[in-house]
Amino acid sequence: MTDYEQLVIDWAFLAPLEETIKGSETKGLRARWEFGCYLRDEVPRGVGGRGNVGPLRAIAAELNVSEQELRYRRQFAIRYPTEEKLANALASFESWFDIISRGLGKERPQISEPEPLPEGVFEVIYADPPWLYEQPGGRTPQLRAVELHYPTMSDEEIAAIEVPAADDSVCFLWATNPKLREALDVLGAWGFDYRTNLAWVKDKIGMGYYVRGQHELLLIGRRGDLPVPHEANRPASVIHAPRAQHSAKPDAAYEAIERMYPDARKLELFAREMRPGWASWGAVAA
Ligand SMILES: C[S@@+](CC[C@H](N)C(=O)[O-])C[C@H]1O[C@@H](n2cnc3c(N)ncnc32)[C@H](O)[C@@H]1O
Repeated sequence: MTDYEQLVIDWAFLAPLEETIKGSETKGLRARWEFGCYLRDEVPRGVGGRGNVGPLRAIAAELNVSEQELRYRRQFAIRYPTEEKLANALASFESWFDIISRGLGKERPQISEPEPLPEGVFEVIYADPPWLYEQPGGRTPQLRAVELHYPTMSDEEIAAIEVPAADDSVCFLWATNPKLREALDVLGAWGFDYRTNLAWVKDKIGMGYYVRGQHELLLIGRRGDLPVPHEANRPASVIHAPRAQHSAKPDAAYEAIERMYPDARKLELFAREMRPGWASWGAVAA
């Protein structure tokens, strides 16, 4: 049993706060602070973490919010520890976005330094990069909201990663629909020829400027001469799986890859969790 499993989370306190947060931006600020006070005072830090389902992750999954959002709430309570300081914050900032980007100051959660890339080479590379969405004339606040969840990287930074792929290997790269062209370029820069893709069709419809997104593409590229998967192990090109916490990808994607390449050495880039049988690399919020 991990330390946090002994914690008794007070859902009767947290769930109504979450309702208020989702229902009203104005009342939601105070509710976020109260939520943050609970995390600050009741939920020990430093238990769980990578490869371990920690308390924040469990709360995030239960209430359908991101872990990063919960970290910001806790930082909010730490930075403004009293009712008086909260009142000052509410008078100074217009929105939650404003509080995160200006109000949390130096205490915004930092991202841990990524470890060096693992030693050796891998026949399967699986990557879900932190794409930066920039628009001509600067980033819009709405798009910058991605960065409330994790730091992002430019296309050039992503393309420059020296991916430890074997001479004969395959790459599975998540492309968001607005970044399809860039994702194909990254695949090429990493030394893979685009072959085909899988589509993840989600249970719920999201946002979008032209169409409301309900799918994401997992591009497949090949380097060298890796044999194609055995016919019996080729999955359907469509995965139907529910949307999970912010930007988390479905287990079915890993399962498809494991079935296609059961014996290959596999590396996940930009991983948030470790998966048995895989090497993983990525920076997670500290
Ligand atoms: C799109 S998310 C990956 C989500 C993951 N596939 C999942 O299912 O949970 C991108 C990840 O890249 C990480 N990241 C951001 N900048 C990074 C960097 N410079 N080096 C390594 N990882 C980074 C982020 O912290 C974030 O966890």
